[in-house]
Amino acid sequence: MKTNGVAKVAFAAGLLSTGALAQTACASVLSPSYSPLPAVASGWQAQLVAGSIKKPRSIQFDSAGALLIVDSGNGVLRYTFTDNGGTCLQVDKQQLLINQTSLNHGLALSADGRTLYASSVESVFAWEYDAQAGTVGATPRVVINNMSNNDLVTRTLLVSQKQPGYIIVSRGGSDDLAEATVLGSGISQIRAFNLANLTSISKPYDFETSGRLLGWGLRNSVGVAEHPVTGGIYSVENSIDGVTRNGTDIHENNPGEELNFHGYLNATTDHQGGNYGFPKCFAVWDPQEIPDNTGLTVGTQFAMTENSTITDELCAQDYVTPRLTFPAHQAPLDIKFNTDGSEAYVTFHGSFDKTNPVGYALSVVAFDPTTGEPTADASSTTALSDIMTNPDHTVCPGKCFRPVGLAWDTKGRLWMSSDSTGEIFVLQKSTTTPTATASGTANAAGTAWQKSTAGLCYGVALAVGGMMMAL
Ligand SMILES: *[C@@H]1O[C@H](CO)[C@@H](O)[C@H](O)[C@H]1NC(C)=O
Ligand SMILES: *[C@@H]1O[C@H](CO)[C@@H](O)[C@H](O)[C@H]1NC(C)=O
Ligand SMILES: *[C@@H]1O[C@H](CO)[C@@H](O)[C@H](O)[C@H]1NC(C)=O
Ligand SMILES: *[C@@H]1O[C@H](CO)[C@@H](O)[C@H](O)[C@H]1NC(C)=O
Ligand SMILES: *[C@@H]1O[C@H](CO)[C@@H](O)[C@H](O)[C@H]1NC(C)=O
Ligand SMILES: *[C@@H]1O[C@H](CO)[C@@H](O)[C@H](O)[C@H]1NC(C)=O
Repeated sequence: MKTNGVAKVAFAAGLLSTGALAQTACASVLSPSYSPLPAVASGWQAQLVAGSIKKPRSIQFDSAGALLIVDSGNGVLRYTFTDNGGTCLQVDKQQLLINQTSLNHGLALSADGRTLYASSVESVFAWEYDAQAGTVGATPRVVINNMSNNDLVTRTLLVSQKQPGYIIVSRGGSDDLAEATVLGSGISQIRAFNLANLTSISKPYDFETSGRLLGWGLRNSVGVAEHPVTGGIYSVENSIDGVTRNGTDIHENNPGEELNFHGYLNATTDHQGGNYGFPKCFAVWDPQEIPDNTGLTVGTQFAMTENSTITDELCAQDYVTPRLTFPAHQAPLDIKFNTDGSEAYVTFHGSFDKTNPVGYALSVVAFDPTTGEPTADASSTTALSDIMTNPDHTVCPGKCFRPVGLAWDTKGRLWMSSDSTGEIFVLQKSTTTPTATASGTANAAGTAWQKSTAGLCYGVALAVGGMMMAL
């Protein structure tokens, strides 16, 4: 984990130092209830703008500027904010848009914004959606089904901006690993479906037998994104826990998490539909931890035990290698490109299968906007730069935000959910120091503690670009 350039500000009882308070621009701000408070990288501001949500996962803005949130086990929430500019926002209204407890992660809107998709472990549902009114049709249609399995139950949804009508669905694996070795099982796969004309679909697509296969042998690729220039599809993979090599425990730093490439949704099918290794072959993160590591470097595929049918050589030859490999167990859950395709932001939910916790951060990966490829080599160990972190991993997961969903708003701000803490944050690149605005009275020490709209007590905090950062 890189920590260079990440400023850590010590808070005393939720109060900023005087120097930072003088620069506070927001009339009212929330602060996380845990400490140490999150830190943001130099050149960024971040702020907590909503809390007390049960389990916020995927997030997305609608065409009216409202934030839709999948609240796992509850339904879809719709939040509107009073926007005082910068990162100064306050919840205006909140509503339970869709009351359906089976919804657990996936969320997407059609290109025209008039159809809302959300997923349960079994199905993708489609509602008619009126963004202005903030209402959905009474009964959803099931458009894709037959996806149930135990263990890994999220079905991430992504509507293509390049190939109108296409929706990508990523399905995680079951605890019966052998199922993932059968293409027809539909387990641990990413598929794309054409939903351009819903009225022509007389019955739901069966995930196992329909759609366009983008990749399989993908244990749990929870984050999926489309490069805005080339249309290249990338996913981020949560690899296995408890890996061994010839009976030796090598799980601390292996296998690596993966950034995988799945080609394009146009007529070109290069780099598409391949097997990415799970459950037979895994990506190396730390070669030194692996016995018999001849020929193994970061990102090469290895076998847990070699026999007549599986060797490291066959793993490298028969399976698609990651485009980038990330540290083991960081648990990437979302990936979103910026507008020009020069960066991809990745949320890392954080480890549980590791002595010293890792992840628990929002990070960024540099891309070449023209080729749509990461700028780092496949064997790089330095492709990630941290944007927002929990400064002390020894208190994770208990006292740490755990990032999940990302969404850009029309003002270029990046929004992020944290499911364990029930929070929504907004982040903005800023190289200037914010000053008090006309609409927002600058906070003085006396207004340090305020009630949020949810009625909870939070301390004051403000992230100030470039010099004094905290939340
Ligand atoms: C959601 O639906 C359940 C079950 O139908 C119902 O008991 C509950 O009151 C509803 N919640 C809201 C906020 O409408
Ligand atoms: C799921 O697909 C399999 C294989 O096509 C089929 O046998 C099974 O009946 C389907 N299950 C459901 C619930 O549709
Ligand atoms: C959608 O499908 C229905 C039923 O097949 C057909 O009548 C209709 O013309 C189609 N609409 C478009 C825009 O293709
Ligand atoms: C699909 O998109 C890729 C990347 O933009 C491009 O190189 C390729 O030519 C396209 N294929 C077709 C058939 O348009
Ligand atoms: C594992 O152990 C076997 C038997 O000792 C040996 O032949 C093999 O090379 C070892 N390495 C791997 C990677 O399986
Ligand atoms: C080789 O190992 C794989 C994975 O552990 C196993 O599925 C396969 O049955 C083994 N093959 C032989 C011939 O032992």
